[in-house]
Amino acid sequence: MSGYSGRSTLLAVAAAVVLSACGGDAGDDAPAVDTGTPAPAQPASTVGANVVLPEGVTPEMVAQGAQIFNRQICMSCHGMNGVGSVLGPALTDQEWLNSDGSYESIINVVRTGVPQPVQFAAAMPPMGGIQLSDEQIRQVAAYVYALSHGG
Ligand code: HEC
Repeated sequence: MSGYSGRSTLLAVAAAVVLSACGGDAGDDAPAVDTGTPAPAQPASTVGANVVLPEGVTPEMVAQGAQIFNRQICMSCHGMNGVGSVLGPALTDQEWLNSDGSYESIINVVRTGVPQPVQFAAAMPPMGGIQLSDEQIRQVAAYVYALSHGG
């Protein structure tokens, strides 16, 4: 019996240590409660957080563009997160084959594709071969811009 109570005391101490360790910083940056205005949704991606975005481009657009890029056709040639593959160039650097790297020029490349690639064997079809709205083109271009400007 004495062994049993000794162990449960130990467990209780251990639990208290764990609890206090967790509780230590929990309250520090807890969001203000019930202000009536919900905090804006966190963008799914942190790409763009350190980038000076072009006029009219928001971090939300970059986050949306990341979804389009990485969940749809673009990543099949340009790789996850634009790292490049045998079918398409990396979009994470400042080396541009088909544009000058400006936001508008990236939009143009995405919209029209690259019928005659500079280095790669096969063309990029307009919008990578899928249908994108003008808004989606701007979002995915915002993501590419952020990727290549240190995001
Ligand atoms: C079928 C493969 C393929 C798909 C899909 C594709 N691309 Fe491309 N992309 C290429 C090729 C090939 C090039 C041109 C490389 C060259 O000139 O040698 C290119 C070029 C680009 C460039 C210009 C890069 C530069 O260096 O100037 C951008 C930006 C770009 N693609 C974005 C996208 C986006 C965004 C999507 C999705 C909507 C997409 N691509 C889908 C193959 C693809």
